[in-house]
Amino acid sequence: MKVISDPRKMQDFSRMSRRAGKVIGFVPTMGALHRGHLELVRASRRKDDVTLASIYVNPLQFGPKEDFNKYPRMLAADLRLLSGLKVDAVYTPSNKEMYPEGFSTEVQVTGPLVKGLCAPFRPGHFDGVATVVVKLLGATLPTRLYLGQKDAQQVAVLKRVVRDLDLEVEVVACPTVREKDGLAMSSRNLRLSEKGRALAPVLYRGLRAGRGQALSGKRDARTVLAVVRRTISREREVKLQYLEVVERDSLRPVKRVGSGTMIALAAHLENVRLIDNIIV
Ligand code: PAJ
Repeated sequence: MKVISDPRKMQDFSRMSRRAGKVIGFVPTMGALHRGHLELVRASRRKDDVTLASIYVNPLQFGPKEDFNKYPRMLAADLRLLSGLKVDAVYTPSNKEMYPEGFSTEVQVTGPLVKGLCAPFRPGHFDGVATVVVKLLGATLPTRLYLGQKDAQQVAVLKRVVRDLDLEVEVVACPTVREKDGLAMSSRNLRLSEKGRALAPVLYRGLRAGRGQALSGKRDARTVLAVVRRTISREREVKLQYLEVVERDSLRPVKRVGSGTMIALAAHLENVRLIDNIIV
C-alpha cells in the first residue's frame, strides 16, 4: 500500500491507474478508523479496481470552540487497518500541503441544504467540508466517492457540490454502521467515559421509537418528535441539540412522516457531540 502526502504525487498515481483503464473508488476520512469507515472501503473494494483512502483532519471544518485539537489521531494503526483491506494508496497530506501559504479559495454552500440540522450550530462547517472534499477529489481523481449515511447532511451537501461544480464523480452513500447496542460508530465515541458510552445508545433507541410511532400510523411530525424526545430525556446527561424530521434528500422539514422521511438529531454527552439519524 502506498502512502502519499504530496498532492502532485497523488494525482500521478491516479492518472496512471486511469490510463490503465481502472475505475478508482475514494474514501475520505479524518482517521481514527472504525468499522464505519472500513465498510466504505469494503464497498469500494467490491466495486472498483483501485481503492484510495485519505486521512486528514481538516482544520477548516472545525469551529473555534470545537474539538480539532482533541480529535483522535492514530495514523500508524489506521494505516495497518487500511493495508489489511488491500487499499491501494492512502493520501495523507500535511496542513502545509493541503493549505499552503497564500491559499485563498473556499467553496461556499448556500440554500435549503444548510438551513437546518447541524448547519446553524456549526457555522462554516459545511463550507470547510466542501472545500476540503473538492481538493481531495482534485488530488485523487476518483470515479466514485464513498460517504456514510451517518453524516446525512454531509452526503446531501456533497451531492449538491458535485452537481453544482460539474465534478466528474459518482457519490455512493453507504448505510450507517452501528455497535451491537445500536450506537452509531464514530471516532468521537472514543472520548466518552465508560458511563457515557453506556448511556449513548439511548439516541438510537429514541430514533427507533420515533420510527415505530410513525410506522404504527401516527405520522404527525410533532407526535413522532415527542416520542423521540421522551425516550431520550430519560437519560438526563444526554442533551439534545436539535431533533428534526426532514425529507431525506432535500433536507426540507416535513409535517407528516412518510417513506423517505429522515429523523435526525445531534446531542451532547460529556461534552462530546454525537449525531445520528434514521430513515422511515
Ligand atoms: P470522518 O468523520 O472520518 O468520516 C469519514 C467517512 O466515514 C464519512 O463519509 C462518514 O459519514 C463515514 N462514517 C463515519 N461513521 C460511520 C458509520 N458509523 N457508518 C457509516 N459511515 C460512517 O466525515 C468526515 O470524516 C469528514 O467530514 C470528511 C468527509 C473526511 C472531510 O474532511
